Amino acid sequence: MSSYRSYGAGYNNNRGGGGGGYHRNNTPTPKPPANLTVKSDFYTGVNVRSDYSEQDITVFREKEGITIRGSNVPPPIMEFTDYPWPKSISAGFSRQGYDKPTPIQAQGWPIALAGRDMVGIAQTGSGKTMSYIIPAFIHIDSQLNERRDYGPMALVLAPTRELAQQIQEVVNHFQTRFGNVCVFGGASKGPQIKEITRNRPMLVIATPGRLNDFIESGIISLANISYLVLDEADRMLDMGFEPQIRKIIATITMAKRQTLMWSATWPKEVRTLAEEFLQDYIQINVGALQLHANHNITQIVEVCGDMEKKEKLFSLLTEIVKENSENKIIVFAETKRKVDDLTKQLRYSNWPAMCIHGDKSQSERDWVLKEFRSGKAPILVATDVAARGLDVEDIKYVINFDYPNSSEDYVHRIGRTGRKNKKGTAYTFFTKGNSKQANDLINVLKEANQTVNPKLLELSRFGGGPDKYRRYGSSRNGFIPKNSYNSGRGGGGNGYNNSYGNNSNGNGAGYPQKRKFDSFDAASNSNAKKPYYDSSYSSGSRFN
Ligand SMILES: Nc1ncnc2c1ncn2[C@@H]1O[C@H](COP(=O)(O)OP(=O)(O)OP(=O)(O)O)[C@@H](O)[C@H]1O
Ligand SMILES: [Mg+2]
Repeated sequence: MSSYRSYGAGYNNNRGGGGGGYHRNNTPTPKPPANLTVKSDFYTGVNVRSDYSEQDITVFREKEGITIRGSNVPPPIMEFTDYPWPKSISAGFSRQGYDKPTPIQAQGWPIALAGRDMVGIAQTGSGKTMSYIIPAFIHIDSQLNERRDYGPMALVLAPTRELAQQIQEVVNHFQTRFGNVCVFGGASKGPQIKEITRNRPMLVIATPGRLNDFIESGIISLANISYLVLDEADRMLDMGFEPQIRKIIATITMAKRQTLMWSATWPKEVRTLAEEFLQDYIQINVGALQLHANHNITQIVEVCGDMEKKEKLFSLLTEIVKENSENKIIVFAETKRKVDDLTKQLRYSNWPAMCIHGDKSQSERDWVLKEFRSGKAPILVATDVAARGLDVEDIKYVINFDYPNSSEDYVHRIGRTGRKNKKGTAYTFFTKGNSKQANDLINVLKEANQTVNPKLLELSRFGGGPDKYRRYGSSRNGFIPKNSYNSGRGGGGNGYNNSYGNNSNGNGAGYPQKRKFDSFDAASNSNAKKPYYDSSYSSGSRFN
């Protein structure tokens, strides 16, 4: 607290208007002058490889499954050598051993470099982070001298602290002439404030709660931001985060702002809201336009009763470990308490499990994730705090002990495996209480040519439409017709013990439709005296 004061006190009266922010020696950050020139096009007139024919471009887009909506779309950067990157960036590519841009990078880079607003949707593990980070580097670097005095130029918002820190690691793989800072809740403010005031970072990666806190207390000014990224954009625009995002964007006063949104999922419910923040934007989709999962993941759904899940989990783990005891496994459960209970039970039976959720201190969350990344703790039990964006090498299995509250979450959760063209497997326990989501899940399975368990088809007939819960601003219209599937396909073979139970004990059916998210950064608020976790959802959120 004291270090916080030494930087921050006395400047709390500059709220809302995009002012505030500190400089070295405790002098407030000057506002950018009204006539400041903001450069945003680093594509037009640049020596980009231009000998691709229209035909080459069409063939490339078709082959990679790229669909585009919008006008004046620049052609893809198919090879790293197609664009004259500064040396530090090319060196970063080679250091990481990348041969080629991924499809979302190939088509996302030219759009972002041309200064256009955009929505980039591509499957989990397809390299979206670099898709927005590399153009951010160029954006900043090319006007560093003219603008460095006015505060950071680029801002990346992410929903969880772990993801924000991971994005910073991606940034730090590259050498830059400017600094960056990761602003996130749970950790002490002092070092982050020090970073902001002393090192004048030009790139800020942040979770919304702590960032709003810093804006309100005048620690940071976003008046110079001209490149804004929402990673996991559908999550950032849902009801949990929307007010915070609005507040942040209101302080970005720069007339010329480029806004870029990225995710693996883009539900209808957020699209209109997204458009409020975008201008003349281009949307690119890699892969199917409907909700879809990464095809490198084998998806196995087991229909069972709530009471059977535990035993099934144990036998599943036994089988997985028989295959290779070093396999990394992530188990998702619905609530913090369930995560705790499950972890205790696993540990009691000598499984090397650790857990992560929003009631854990941030230092513990960080430590557990580190142990998991290193392979020292190969089983991670988690709430949805670990569902999005986390890129952990070699997760071979994802187990949905509880089905998530939306099919989008399902796609993100299972996407923790099968990254970078690796293969992975996702097991999902699905109960009668989850019936409402059966249709959505069946669609995802079918799109990925997965076997659809006949028991799941049966449940879909009882499920009604996906009454799309709570999360996004409006309820989903456009119900998927019931009974629209032929149950001709074989049921979840694969040698895994399928003693399908058909009797939910009623527990699942009582799941509240209003979801309380776990531990994203949404609601930490500066004036609330919150402890380290910012899971404002926590009160009463233990469902069972
Ligand atoms: N051009 C490339 N060639 C090879 N690997 C790459 C390339 N670009 C990124 N990667 C690697 O791919 C992995 C996944 O990248 P990233 O985390 O950005 O995926 P994502 O699309 O953001 O996934 P998610 O939707 O889960 O957030 C990372 O380990 C990253 O280092
Ligand atoms: Mg990502």
